Amino acid sequence: MAPIGDISAERLGGLLRTGFLGRHILAEELLESTNLTAAALAPASEEGLLVLADQQSGGRGRNGRKWASPPGRNLYFSLVLKPCCHPSAVPQLAIVAALSISRALERLGVMGAGVKWPNDIHCNRRKLCGILCSMSSLGDRAEYAIAGIGLNVNMEELDFPESLRCTATSLLMETGRRMDRALVLAEALNSLEEDYSLWKKHCSLSPFMERWDGMDVLKGKTIVAEHGGGIVAGRADGIEASGLLRLETADGLKLISAGDTHIVNQGQA
Ligand code: BTN
Repeated sequence: MAPIGDISAERLGGLLRTGFLGRHILAEELLESTNLTAAALAPASEEGLLVLADQQSGGRGRNGRKWASPPGRNLYFSLVLKPCCHPSAVPQLAIVAALSISRALERLGVMGAGVKWPNDIHCNRRKLCGILCSMSSLGDRAEYAIAGIGLNVNMEELDFPESLRCTATSLLMETGRRMDRALVLAEALNSLEEDYSLWKKHCSLSPFMERWDGMDVLKGKTIVAEHGGGIVAGRADGIEASGLLRLETADGLKLISAGDTHIVNQGQA
């Protein structure tokens, strides 16, 4: 792996405690999207391949949005996973990844991060990290899954596109400290391997429910969930072990499978 900025194979290797995540790496200064490259390589790759870019020309977010991906500041990476579970369980990986990265951030002394369904990490009501999962399935088995992670590390407020300045944040903005990207990446991978291995045994979020509950920024809040052009309002009541959001609405409990969520009356969350 050629070094990209402050991230070299030697430094990363010295910090990793994983058995398979990040033990094979493709790192490039510029990719269109690490998710696209990882998906192209996945069929012939071993589980755990890490695709890393210093900059993305077409970084993708959920629902067709763009992911701001300037060079030298943040982490943009995708992991090739081969979980052997039913395809319907794969979206749970985004929830596992959000919990894992939040734990890694805590270990790095970043306090106050919370998880926001379906798969964001927020700090002080601003978005710090986004996760985008995709998969390919063969019949009733997932052939592979791609977990793509964008974590804002050393962005200053003015580095964000204007439209994101009131809603996005970074580790630098939250802690006042410029962070070592190799260390943040290694801690994220160490934590992800631990949690992914646990999830893979169950193909269910049951071992993670307590952790989600303790970090859920929506819990008990009045929210709106947007999905498929419709909007449902209600009080968020955590998640099911399948990953569905529990929403208490005027018409009773609704289980939401996908979409964006916003807290009502607290600005856009
Ligand atoms: C979201 O909308 O919250 C998900 C954002 C995911 C961004 C990451 S950056 C690395 C990987 N490559 C992409 O193109 N997207 C994901």
